[in-house]
Amino acid sequence: MKNDSSVAVLADALRAELRRLAPGDRLPSSRALVERHRVSPVTVSRALGLLAAEGLIVTRPGSGAFAAGRPAPAAEPADLGWQAVALGDRSVDSAGVSWLLTPAPDGVIALSGGYLAPALQPVRALATAAARAARRPDAWEVPDTRGVPGLRAWFARTAGGAVSPGEVLITGGGQQALSTVLRALLPPGAPLLAESPTYLGVLAVARAAGLHPVPVPGDADGVRPGLLAEAFAMSGARAFYCQPAFQNPTGAVLAAGRRAQVLDVARAAGAFVIEDDYARHLGITAPPPPLAAQDAEGRVVHIASLTKATAPGLRVAAVIARGPVAERIRAAQLVGEFFPARPLQETLLELVSSPGWPRHLRSVRAALRTRRDAALAALARELPELRVNRPSGGLHLWARLPDGTDDTALAEAALRAGVLVSAGRPFFPAEASAPHLRISYGTAASEAELVEGVRRLAGVLRS
Ligand SMILES: Cc1ncc(COP(=O)(O)O)c(C=O)c1O
Repeated sequence: MKNDSSVAVLADALRAELRRLAPGDRLPSSRALVERHRVSPVTVSRALGLLAAEGLIVTRPGSGAFAAGRPAPAAEPADLGWQAVALGDRSVDSAGVSWLLTPAPDGVIALSGGYLAPALQPVRALATAAARAARRPDAWEVPDTRGVPGLRAWFARTAGGAVSPGEVLITGGGQQALSTVLRALLPPGAPLLAESPTYLGVLAVARAAGLHPVPVPGDADGVRPGLLAEAFAMSGARAFYCQPAFQNPTGAVLAAGRRAQVLDVARAAGAFVIEDDYARHLGITAPPPPLAAQDAEGRVVHIASLTKATAPGLRVAAVIARGPVAERIRAAQLVGEFFPARPLQETLLELVSSPGWPRHLRSVRAALRTRRDAALAALARELPELRVNRPSGGLHLWARLPDGTDDTALAEAALRAGVLVSAGRPFFPAEASAPHLRISYGTAASEAELVEGVRRLAGVLRS
């Protein structure tokens, strides 16, 4: 982030300088820019790259960078009113998802977001893996369209049970897998059962596909099978979306006694279970094996993402399914996007096969334990009136606010006070059972930041 903002600051300064230069005038040398702006050579080269992409400069290797011709004055804004008429009343609501992906502004502590803090991401190992992957002679060729074989084998082994590589389809991240799976399984207008609360990104993608999310309440042991059976009966749904391990946002792990019950209820309804296994590698204590590993009849469509344990830019995940549903999902992906970028697949394969991978996972889990405990201790000290879960993995705490609190207004006030947290409201498919905040311990830059973030939040709640 810091790096990106220094590139932007330098690019702005150079844009101002370019306004004073005539076309063809030479910009100061890279070395002079490094000294004058006190930035690194990488920042200078990225800022110059940006200006070249904008057409403001021309770079000539060995001679330097020169002001390009003056850009044409901006044209009058076009009248695009006709588009609103042509597009009609269908729209895609991306507000929740874009909130999740927007970085915290400078000076604001990020206790929200879906990914590990940059300090916990294996950035160097990824750079090494990417360099090795890109050097493979076939890195840019069309791969097996179901995914690079070594990676499919790795996902199958990680899922366990009788899962075989032939049942694995590599996708471009978990969100894309959700989109492909939901569109392949369900026609527009169909109901989709989902735990309540649930990951707001699945609600967004379901609604964009014309589906109707139907809430099924859970408790500390995960979804309640009796209510799941009722929801199937009342809605006629053919699919249930769930996260049995470290549910986002509640952190719940589906209890041992409920695992077979959930599969039985789905069997009685003739329905699929879509298992979003998004945080398997973020277990402070190890999660139970995925439902897919105990599924003997092709009922579970399993989605395994690795962005949570690595970095958000590594858009690679896997769908595990068998039978006609696997064929339908594979065909939907092929028609919709051919296949995920091969160099990224190869990069992930390099990463998970490297000796540093288990070490990385161990250190992430240890850091998550320390951060979770620090956040809980700070909350108990500063905000004893909140009821907060104690998750055994994942990235988030789920805090029950006092009755009558407006969680959306509270999250907005918290942002103004310098701490980013998520209001609970958007995580509910329908009415919220009570006001909540999702407080992410895995996204803060450090333990000290976490504690300071909780202190700022307490200040807002007190006022
Ligand atoms: C429960 C859950 N599933 C899926 C995703 C999608 O993640 P990705 O597309 O990075 O794999 C997220 C991201 O926040 C998530 O929280």
